[in-house]
Amino acid sequence: MSPNASIRAADSRAEARALSAAATTAGHAPSIHNTQPWRWRLSSDELDLYLDRSRALDVTDPDSRLAILSCGAALHHALISLAADGWHTILARMPDPAHPDHLAQLRLDHRIPVTPDARRHRQTIKLRHTDRRPAPSTPLDTGRLHAVGAAVESTGAGLHLLRPDQVYDLAAAADHAQRAEAEDLAWQAELHYWTGGTRPLGSGIPDTAIPDRATQTTVPGRDFGHHGDLPVSAEHQNDAAFAILYGPGVGEVDWLRAGEALSAAWLTATELGLSVLPLSATIEVAVTRERMRSLLSGLGRPHLVLRFTTGDPAATATPHTPRLPTDQIIERF
Ligand SMILES: Cc1cc2nc3c(=O)[nH]c(=O)nc-3n(C[C@H](O)[C@H](O)[C@H](O)COP(=O)(O)O)c2cc1C
Repeated sequence: MSPNASIRAADSRAEARALSAAATTAGHAPSIHNTQPWRWRLSSDELDLYLDRSRALDVTDPDSRLAILSCGAALHHALISLAADGWHTILARMPDPAHPDHLAQLRLDHRIPVTPDARRHRQTIKLRHTDRRPAPSTPLDTGRLHAVGAAVESTGAGLHLLRPDQVYDLAAAADHAQRAEAEDLAWQAELHYWTGGTRPLGSGIPDTAIPDRATQTTVPGRDFGHHGDLPVSAEHQNDAAFAILYGPGVGEVDWLRAGEALSAAWLTATELGLSVLPLSATIEVAVTRERMRSLLSGLGRPHLVLRFTTGDPAATATPHTPRLPTDQIIERF
């Protein structure tokens, strides 16, 4: 083999490795009920992201907005992995209008210097997790929340921090949404499938991540229909901040971008010592989604509610939720 040919062969092996690492890293992303509704197709020079409807929630999320949002978080994780491997990536969102489940296409363009931010974010991907415990009584400082807001804005989305009076509106809407959902037997069955004892291997929410009693919070967290094993305090929590993640429109590409913004927000928050809990019930129910929209006063369309609390350094780490084996989410060509 000529020296040039062997350099080209080494380059293409490095590209294939970086793309494979990106799809694997993306598997750590958060997703509604830990459904992991993504599928990656990997070839030697391209990585394609698809929505996997077999893992979407037909009852809770009939438009697949939260499934696509989850895929957007996975996409952002993949982009971080590529940047941390020193690649500038060309990204096409919704590249094929005839196939709306084809959410994104990534191609490696040229080498770039690796920034400390990219390296740190890639490490944070493995540390990030959902924390459903009430906050310790440590006030949140607004500087850290503004840094999270800036991370969201860098992706083209916005984060609206709710005022105390708006938090009471959110609490009422969350209560209403959860009651409406709980009356629906099909919804209960779907929740139980993903978060009960029969959840599919490698996915769903295990009892170790579900509070062992009802949490005393102003805005109710997800009612999983049973208590889990996660020890939580019996004290009332009042030191949380709540925000609405929003974007300019409603449609597949908006939900995908909202997921990218969620990943950016969550990684930054984790690095700043903040815990994050997504609360999607008010987005799942049309009437409360409208209520969230009105809280934005024309800023944009609501995609997800987020609770921020100061991480409790004294608390034991919550165990990580499981993930599907890579051969179930990555197809290699
Ligand atoms: C779009 C979306 C909506 C979510 N909604 C909720 C929610 O309403 N309540 C909740 O407790 N967790 C919610 N989560 C957190 C997921 O359950 C969590 O990401 C998943 O179980 C994986 O766990 P991990 O984040 O610890 O890796 C949501 C996550 C996403 C991405």
